[in-house]
Amino acid sequence: MKLPFFFFFLFLVLNSFSQEEKPILLKEIPQQFEYDDDLLPAAFFAKNRQAVRDRMPANSVAVFFANPVRNRSNDVDFEYHQDPNFYYLTGLREPNAVLVIYKDQQHFGDETSTKEILFLQKRNPKNEQWTGKRLGVDGALTYLQMETAIKSQNFAAFEAEFNTFDNIYVFKIPEDVAPSKEKDELYTLIKNFNLKTESASTKINNVLLGSILAELRQTKSKEEITLLRKAIDITCEAQIELMKSLKPGMKEYESEAIVEYFFKKNGAEYPGFPSILGSGENSCVLHYTTNRKILGDNDLLVSDIGAEYHGYTADVTRTIPAKGTFSKEQKIIYNIVLEAQQAGIDACLKGNKFWDPHQAATEIISNRLLELGIIDKKFNVRNYFMHGTSHYLGLDVHDVGLYGPLMPGQVITVEPGIYIPEGSDCDPKWWNIGVRIEDDILITNGKPEVLSAKAPRKIEEIEALMKEKGTLE
Ligand code: GLY
Ligand code: MN
Ligand code: MN
Repeated sequence: MKLPFFFFFLFLVLNSFSQEEKPILLKEIPQQFEYDDDLLPAAFFAKNRQAVRDRMPANSVAVFFANPVRNRSNDVDFEYHQDPNFYYLTGLREPNAVLVIYKDQQHFGDETSTKEILFLQKRNPKNEQWTGKRLGVDGALTYLQMETAIKSQNFAAFEAEFNTFDNIYVFKIPEDVAPSKEKDELYTLIKNFNLKTESASTKINNVLLGSILAELRQTKSKEEITLLRKAIDITCEAQIELMKSLKPGMKEYESEAIVEYFFKKNGAEYPGFPSILGSGENSCVLHYTTNRKILGDNDLLVSDIGAEYHGYTADVTRTIPAKGTFSKEQKIIYNIVLEAQQAGIDACLKGNKFWDPHQAATEIISNRLLELGIIDKKFNVRNYFMHGTSHYLGLDVHDVGLYGPLMPGQVITVEPGIYIPEGSDCDPKWWNIGVRIEDDILITNGKPEVLSAKAPRKIEEIEALMKEKGTLE
C-alpha cells in the first residue's frame, strides 16, 4: 500500500525541531554498518583527511558539503548518493552534513581542541521509523572515528571564526538546494556558512581543494583496488550472463534487466551510471540510455555497464551480436576496435603520458578506416571515433585526476569505438554498425593489468559463449 507521504511530511515538520538527540545504544548498530563486513575502515578516511591537511598552507581551513537530497517529483526524492569527495574524507553516506578540516589544532572554549569537525544531522527516532537509522553524533565518533562531531543544528551557533584564517578553502557549495525545503538542513548549513564568511570573501578559494582531491584520488590504495576489483568482477559476470541470454526479439530493457539483476544479486548497491544498452542504430549513440528498442536479428548491442560496489564503480563495454554471430562487416569493424584497444592497453605503462593510449588507438583506427575507404583523410577519423579512449575510474565513473604521466595504482579505462550511423558518407553496408570495447586497466610497475579480463572480448570467445544457456533462462 502506498505510504501516506503527506502525513509523513506534516509529521516531520512538527517533529524536526523538537527531537533531542539520544545517545545510541551499543546494540543499536546503525543500518549502514550492519550488514557489510568489507566497508572501508575509518582509518582510510582519516588518512585521507590528513593527506588533505598536509597539502593545505599554514593558517587555513577547508570546508566540504555533503550532496543535497535531490527531488524527483512532488514528495518523492531520488535515492541518496553522497558526493564522492565527501565520502572519501568521511565515509558518511547521509545528507545534511558539512566537514571542516583545519590545518592547525584549534581550541574552542575550554573543552574542545580539534583539527576537524563533522557537523551532521542528529538522530531522531521518530524520523528513523520512516527513513532508517542515522549515525548521529555518537555514531560518527564511534564508527567514522571523527575527532569531533557536532549536530548540524549547532553549526550556526558554533564559535568557528572563519575570518581569522588566511585562506578558506571550499570544495563546492551545492547550488541546487532549495530554501523552500524546511526538511533540508543543508540549505541552513550553506546559509550559515555564507553568513560566517561574509566579511572574509576575499579569502575564499574554491580551486585548491579540487586539485588536491584529484591528486589524491587518482592513485588508488590497496583497499580501494579491492573494492574496484569486486565492482569489476560483478560487471564482468553481468556481461557474461547477458552474452548467454541475449536473443533477437528481446527488448533493450530486458538486457538491462539481466545486467542489473546480476549487479544487485552480487551486492552492488546500484549501477555507477545509467546502463547503456543500445542495439542497431542505437549502438551508434554514445550515451544512449532509453533502452526500449526491440533487438533485430542483425543488430549489434553495445552494452556499456558498471556496477557500483561500496562507492567504487566499474565501467566495462562489450559489443554483442543479437543472434550470436557477427556478420562479415561487423567482424571487420569489431576487429579494428579490438586491435586499437590492444594498442591502447599496451600503452598503459608507468611514465607514459595519459593520452598515449588514445594516440595509439586512434592511429590504428584511422589507418584501418583509410584502408577500407570509409574515410579519405586520416583527420576524418573523428567522424567515426569522436571520444577519448581513457578516463580515470574510481568513486566516479569519470573519476578525478591530474592527467599527468600514468603511475602505478591508477585505474583507467581503455575504450576505443567506431560508430557509423545510417546516412554516413561511406558504403551503406557499414551503416548502423557501432562498436565499443572498454576495459578497466590497473597501471603497475610492469605490464598493465586488465581488471576486466574475465569478460571475453574476442569474436570466437563471444560467439562460443553465446551458445551457452544463461542462468536466468
Ligand atoms: N560509461 C561511460 C563511459 O564509458 O565513459
Ligand atoms: Mn563505459
Ligand atoms: Mn568509460
